[in-house]
Amino acid sequence: MTDCQGDREGTDSPMELYERLNLQGDNVRALKTAKADKADLDAAVQLLLKLKVDYKQMTGQDYKAGCPPSENTAVPNNGPAADCADGEDSVDPWNVSTTNAKGVDYDKLIVRFGSSKVEKELVDRIEKVSGQKPHRFLRRGIFFSHRDMNQVLDAYEKHKSFYLYTGRGPSSEAMHVGHLIPFIFTKWLQDVFDIPLVIQLTDDEKYLWKDLTVEECHRFAVENAKDIIACGFDVNKTFIFSDLDYMGASPDFYRNVVKIQKHVTFNQVKGIFGFTDSDCIGKISFPAIQAAPSFSNSFPQIFGGRKDIQCLIPCAIDQDPYFRMTRDVAPRIGYPKPALLHSTFFPALQGAQTKMSASDANSSIFLTDTPKQIKNKINKHAFSGGKDTVEEHRKHGGNADVDVSFMYLTFFLEDDEQLEKIRQDYTSGALLTGELKKILIETLQPMISQHQERRKQVTDETIKQFMTPRPLNFNN
Ligand code: TRP
Repeated sequence: MTDCQGDREGTDSPMELYERLNLQGDNVRALKTAKADKADLDAAVQLLLKLKVDYKQMTGQDYKAGCPPSENTAVPNNGPAADCADGEDSVDPWNVSTTNAKGVDYDKLIVRFGSSKVEKELVDRIEKVSGQKPHRFLRRGIFFSHRDMNQVLDAYEKHKSFYLYTGRGPSSEAMHVGHLIPFIFTKWLQDVFDIPLVIQLTDDEKYLWKDLTVEECHRFAVENAKDIIACGFDVNKTFIFSDLDYMGASPDFYRNVVKIQKHVTFNQVKGIFGFTDSDCIGKISFPAIQAAPSFSNSFPQIFGGRKDIQCLIPCAIDQDPYFRMTRDVAPRIGYPKPALLHSTFFPALQGAQTKMSASDANSSIFLTDTPKQIKNKINKHAFSGGKDTVEEHRKHGGNADVDVSFMYLTFFLEDDEQLEKIRQDYTSGALLTGELKKILIETLQPMISQHQERRKQVTDETIKQFMTPRPLNFNN
């Protein structure tokens, strides 16, 4: 029997078991098509049945292609068009929703996706290895989940370096503060580990998914690059690329895309992303393009053709499906699996039930907002966990867990003690909603103005520098 599964780790999560089932379904079909030996076919069918039984035992649900597992019997929609019932938390690259005001249940997501929790020991270890105080996103559980971080640190301690890869889908000119989270964190990682970084702008993805022209998507990519550069990345260690440009310019990148495409079946991407027969073939093959930057030989100008340099991807957890696929393919094409650090979602002003929408001006703070707009939006739209009247609030206190202003402060207020004091005072009723909002307004106004100042300094020449394929500082 041909083994298309390569070196697979033991099955540990419902999601991994589900993806194995998709693969095994492929195997059985392939054997049937090839009119394989009856014994081989029987063995493959037996394995398929066994996996189905395991799946039912683990999840309490029947395996159904196109319907990934959920923690409930009602299966969430894990993809743009998967035909499943509505459930609780739904998290995939195109859709995030939950009915819980505190937001998505991230512990359950870790179990479902089969990743690992960022425990205190790991944060301490990052501090020890980097010699720097951990970023507030690590101290506060905002980067809450990971894959293989300990391996990355083991190697780094032995003077084996790694590189960073992150990205952005440029769907419009307008970026909001939530979009900066992975970039702020990635910049910190770049600084403390002193390593190269590649940033993929998936203008091709946005063209395929949205009602936009190729030219518009490319223009948004360049506009977004300015905001990304304004986060302070070091030009000697950072390469930013538009897929529309780099795919055609780099033979090595395209070779990796093709290798990945050969090793992932339609059935697999249907299972992972919920694609259907009526999705255009561009979407179906796109995941290979998001996977390719995880392999160092996609960037010979930086890594001199080496294929063994470990990649670490900081991203929001909704991007994990792409990288589960990438990690599945990697050993089969002779590359190391990328490691990951996953963040929670940045809540919309209206509440943590949903991710923000760049098309709703009132759903977040945009990087172009004036101080006055920031103030008005927070005062008018930030969902409050406070009580209806001052008397009630003083008596019973507010609920910081659902309060969006407080949540935003956990992202942006640097001082841990001050944050904790705010939480206590708000919970006791000593701090009123208006006062809490004022602290947030005064935190965000200077932060956004400074960003705008730095963005203004980004010239066409700067963009060209960042976006030109060239060697970066890299010692390994
Ligand atoms: N698909 C991502 C988006 O729509 C963009 C992206 C590409 C990305 N490569 C990435 C995000 C790597 C994080 C890490 O935003």
